[in-house]
Amino acid sequence: MPKMWAGRTDGLTNSLADDFNASIGFDSRMYKQDITGSMAHAAMLAACGIIDKKDADTLIDGLAVILSEIESGDLEIDMSCEDIHMFVEQELTNRLGDVGKKLHTARSRNDQVALDLRMYLREEIDTICGYIRELIGAITEKAEAHKTTILPGYTHLQRAQPIAFGHHLLAYAMMLLRDLDRLADCRGRMNVSPIGCCALAGTTYQTDRRAEAASLGFDDICMNSLDGVSDRDFCAELLSALSILMMHLSRFSEEIILWSSWEFKFVELSDAFTTGSSIMPQKKNPDMAELVRGKTGRVYGDLLALLTTLKGLPLAYNKDMQEDKEGVFDACDTVKMCLPVFTGMIGTMQVCEDNMKAAAQKGFINATDLADYLVKKGLPFRSAYKLSGQIVAKCIAEGKVLETLSLAEYKEFSPLFEEDLYREIDLSTCVEKRISEGGTSLASVEAQIEYVKEKLQ
Ligand code: ARG
Repeated sequence: MPKMWAGRTDGLTNSLADDFNASIGFDSRMYKQDITGSMAHAAMLAACGIIDKKDADTLIDGLAVILSEIESGDLEIDMSCEDIHMFVEQELTNRLGDVGKKLHTARSRNDQVALDLRMYLREEIDTICGYIRELIGAITEKAEAHKTTILPGYTHLQRAQPIAFGHHLLAYAMMLLRDLDRLADCRGRMNVSPIGCCALAGTTYQTDRRAEAASLGFDDICMNSLDGVSDRDFCAELLSALSILMMHLSRFSEEIILWSSWEFKFVELSDAFTTGSSIMPQKKNPDMAELVRGKTGRVYGDLLALLTTLKGLPLAYNKDMQEDKEGVFDACDTVKMCLPVFTGMIGTMQVCEDNMKAAAQKGFINATDLADYLVKKGLPFRSAYKLSGQIVAKCIAEGKVLETLSLAEYKEFSPLFEEDLYREIDLSTCVEKRISEGGTSLASVEAQIEYVKEKLQ
């Protein structure tokens, strides 16, 4: 069959070229946006007196029937069409005859595809934000349950200072709150309508771009027609926000993988979110966390592919831009798969408090507090730091920890040491003393939980 755009050419393309050129295999998922956009377009054309009101009603009714038939499964999308826009228009014209041919007045597929993609992706952002909020909820709930559970905090993956596990978890809640902000920002810039930019230069018809945009829920219209049809910043921005989100999930995954190893045993993942080995009977593998970490690379790849596709494109539309969709859809699909699994994994994760505590008791993570003790007794910090280091060295040599060194032994290092030093280096005291805003003390952890809850509202 000749193409709808047959005219200058006979529209009878080579079948390999057809397959190569077609995007319906991946853009058919935008059928709802395409149809809704067309309904708004028909209404605008009639309101502006460009087509008859009767024709517009016929078009709108026809489009509504096509939409409901696709949704019910009565109408199958014809995969031999070039793209979803051509499919809908062809189907409409088959049903309505000449009236159907009026729909494409004062628009082009170039502004149409940009419109559909913005409408599709803004919904994806809403879905993804919903999932992120659920994950933040699960993290905050765990943090609440572990406000006073102590584990070693690390720098360089070396035990550094004792912290509350709730405090550690809330660090991820903060990252995810920023992800929500980034996605909201991106949605704001995305929610600007390109329809009416037409092929590249605007149109000679007296259209009302603003009314059409408003009827489709857009906040504004693209102010330059060349930009409107060739801008894919909203895809790049979304991919960048999703890449950062995945980077956060990947770091969290890495910790969960470490924590569930026998070497750490800080957490035990639920059987429901782990897998076994086909050969090693003892294995319980954190596959969900590993897959999230692994899929992060794929989302980064989607971002890099799009940036590379766009970098050399002259204005305005070029067919290269059809390559925008698969990557951005893949990234959205990937993130939408990762988030609920991650939430389930966190929600059902058991925390091995005793192992965390035992790890915190080794590694001299209260050495900073020992130095601070001496500072409070009047020693300059550098001298206190050095002395504490020497005490740690003695403990290591003698197989002791700071808590088991006798007062007499302490006094050999400095007469400033008194019985009260033991309370000061007790791990719970060390955590409780970190009262600075954003620190690991109970009051601060509780304030953080409140902060997160307020932000979520
Ligand atoms: N399928 C195309 C895309 O996804 C639609 C726009 C085509 N426009 C054109 N003039 N060939 O980019």
